[in-house]
Amino acid sequence: MNITILGIESSCDDTAAAIVRDGYILSSVIADQEVHKKYGGVVPELASRAHQKNIVPVVDVAVRQARIRENDISAIAFTRGPGLLGSLLVGTSFAKGFALARKIPLIEVNHLQAHILVLFLKEKDQKLNKNVKVPGFPFLCLLVSGGHTQLIIVRDYLEMEVIGQTIDDAAGEAFDKCAKVMGLPYPGGPAVDKLSLSGNPEAFVFTKPKAKRFNLSFSGLKTNFLYFLRDRLKEDKDFIKKYKADLCASLQHTIVDILLEKCILVSEETGINNIALAGGVSANSGLRKAFHQEADKRNWSLFIPEVRYTTDNAAMIAITGYYKYLKKDFAGQDIVPLARMKP
Ligand code: KG4
Ligand code: ZN
Repeated sequence: MNITILGIESSCDDTAAAIVRDGYILSSVIADQEVHKKYGGVVPELASRAHQKNIVPVVDVAVRQARIRENDISAIAFTRGPGLLGSLLVGTSFAKGFALARKIPLIEVNHLQAHILVLFLKEKDQKLNKNVKVPGFPFLCLLVSGGHTQLIIVRDYLEMEVIGQTIDDAAGEAFDKCAKVMGLPYPGGPAVDKLSLSGNPEAFVFTKPKAKRFNLSFSGLKTNFLYFLRDRLKEDKDFIKKYKADLCASLQHTIVDILLEKCILVSEETGINNIALAGGVSANSGLRKAFHQEADKRNWSLFIPEVRYTTDNAAMIAITGYYKYLKKDFAGQDIVPLARMKP
C-alpha cells in the first residue's frame, strides 16, 4: 500500500500544498501573496485573508498535478506553528475539515522541523539513481530563515536538539532590514543576493556581533549598517545608488562569515562533520558557495536542499507528515495552532 500525504503550509505569507507518496514528491504548489509588497513586510490580517482565498485552489492544483484522486490521500499534514496565528488557523481549520470529511488521519507538523526534513525528500527520477545523498544521523543543521537562526543537532527524523540560536534578529531579518534601508523590495534577501553577484564583498567592512558559545547575534550588524549609510549619505546623497552592489556584497559577506564561523566552531567542538543548511536564507548563493568551499577544506559531508525547497513550501510539510505517519503520530480534532514552537 502506498502512503500518500497531502501537506499544507500557511504559516506566513505563502499558501502551499504538496503531495508526497512514499517519500517521493509528486507535486508542490505555492501561491505567494503580492499584497504585502507595497507595505514592505507581511501584514498579518491581509495574509490570513489571502490564505482563505488561496487554500482551496492551491490544494486542487496540487492534487491534479500529482495525477492522483483525493481518495488516494492517506493523511493530511499541516503546519501547526511557529508562525502568524491568523495564517496558521486557516491551514489548521482546512486540514481538520479535510481529515474529518475523508475519515483520514490528521498530522500536525512543526514548520522548523519541516525545513530540515526536506533534506530527505526524494525526486521521482532518483528511483533510478541509488546514490542519492541524504544526511546520516547525527548531523548538525544550520537553520536560517526569516524568523529563526538556530544550530540544531538532528539525531533522528523527529529528534532534534537546539544547541545555539540568535539572541536577537534572525539572519533573514538582517538581510531584509538592511535591504529595506537601501530601498530594495521585500523580502530583501533574494535582492541582496542578486546584486551581490556584481559587487565587491570587501568594499566595506561591517561589524560581526559576538554572542556566547554556540549562539549568534545580528542586531548590531543592522545598526552598524544603518549608521554607516546615514553618515555616508550626509556626504553624498547618491551613495546608495552608486555603491548598491558593493554594499550588498559586503553585507552578504559579513552575514555568511558570521554563520560559517559559528558552524566551524560547533563542528570542531561536537566532532560532527555531517553538516546541513536549511531555511529560506540557505537559498543564498554566497552562503551555499562558502559552505561548499569550507566542506572541501574540512572534509565535511555537506547537505543543502534544492533552492526551491529552501523557502517556505508544502513539500517539507508533506515529507515530515510522511515520517510521522510511519510512527502513527496523529493529531486529534482538538488540536490548535501555536505561534511559538521549538523544533
Ligand atoms: O524559510 P523562509 O521562507 O520563511 C520563514 O520561515 O521565515 O525564509 C524567508 C527568509 C527571508 O528573510 C528572505 O529574505 C530569506 O529567507 N531569503 C534569502 C534568499 N532567499 C530567501 N536570503 C538571502 N538570500 C536569498 N537568496
Ligand atoms: Zn519557513
